[in-house]
Amino acid sequence: MPNNKKTIFSGVTPSGNLHIGNYFGAIKQWVEMQNAGEYQNIFCVVDEHAITTLQEPAKLRSKILEVFTLYLALGLDPEKSIIFVQSSVSEHSELNWILSTITPVGELERMTQFKDKSQKQKSILAGLLNYPVLQAADILLYHTNTVPVGEDQLQHIELTRAIAKKFNNAFGQIFPLPEPFINKEAKRIMGLDDPAKKMSKSAENSNNYIALLDSPEIIREKIKSAVTDSGSEIKYDAENKPAISNLLLIYSLFSKKPISELEKEYAGKNYSVLKHDLAEVIIEGLSPVQKKYQELSANPDYIKKVLRQGAAKAKAIASQTMTEVRSKIGFLELSV
Ligand code: AMP
Ligand code: TRP
Repeated sequence: MPNNKKTIFSGVTPSGNLHIGNYFGAIKQWVEMQNAGEYQNIFCVVDEHAITTLQEPAKLRSKILEVFTLYLALGLDPEKSIIFVQSSVSEHSELNWILSTITPVGELERMTQFKDKSQKQKSILAGLLNYPVLQAADILLYHTNTVPVGEDQLQHIELTRAIAKKFNNAFGQIFPLPEPFINKEAKRIMGLDDPAKKMSKSAENSNNYIALLDSPEIIREKIKSAVTDSGSEIKYDAENKPAISNLLLIYSLFSKKPISELEKEYAGKNYSVLKHDLAEVIIEGLSPVQKKYQELSANPDYIKKVLRQGAAKAKAIASQTMTEVRSKIGFLELSV
């Protein structure tokens, strides 16, 4: 891959079911950027991040494969992008350690995601606090310029920039400062059970999200039970009608119709009509992805081959960066 291209890097944690918020907020942009052909594209299943909350090993293993296979089903192409699993490239945890030595604990304690997640841990684990340092390592290992993510990740990218700056100042220019790339139309899809909170794969109530692999029956059920607002008017007003606005946004993203057109189409109709049609639009939209996912899953040898290839390509870049980092820090260079 030519080195003069700018690099994009992003990832999703395999800690639950990938949902339509992950797709519209992040992965859709990855596929578009990949297909534009302007970047060196690197996409990762960040399993080392997943273990900052308790994971059952057998389930984790199958989720890693599921998320990786979904990446391919959604259109990431191993011929155009490096697609790999974080734990297969040990340089991520190596750089994580080094960066943790220049990251103030106070900065980490300030992170919203840490504050949310640490509330759920009886005794707060060091890995959860360190989560954004590992994320910075992911990004910086590949000299990343652009990080396509949902809005909730802005704080982590900002911290990554601060860590990169600090490293460059202390040891010499090595890391570019990465920029976030946010899809403004889908920066935050809200939960179906509570439009005040983002749709999240770690939500306790699975009615919170539509998973990319949910069956048509489940999708119909979840949309039917989605909360609505008081009143009956179908109109986009995120402040006063957050639930209906979220449903309209999802409808618009799947149907590619502007929200204003949907408002006209549904003027004077009941919420239940909107919900019925929305469920069908989602089912139709997810059907080709689910079909592709089934096809790919039926070919584990192919998946294994792509996993190995991706890891080798990522490792080649990451190990070069680490050689440079080690030398800048003053570690010995022994070729053993
Ligand atoms: P996570 O599910 O936290 O691993 O997030 C993976 C990617 O999806 C990140 O880039 C997030 O910013 C994005 N994302 C997660 N949830 C949402 C959501 N509800 N709306 C938009 N983007 C999201
Ligand atoms: N923290 C991100 C999330 O929760 C996942 C992630 C880990 C990531 N490493 C990354 C995203 C590097 C972008 C770049 O969604």
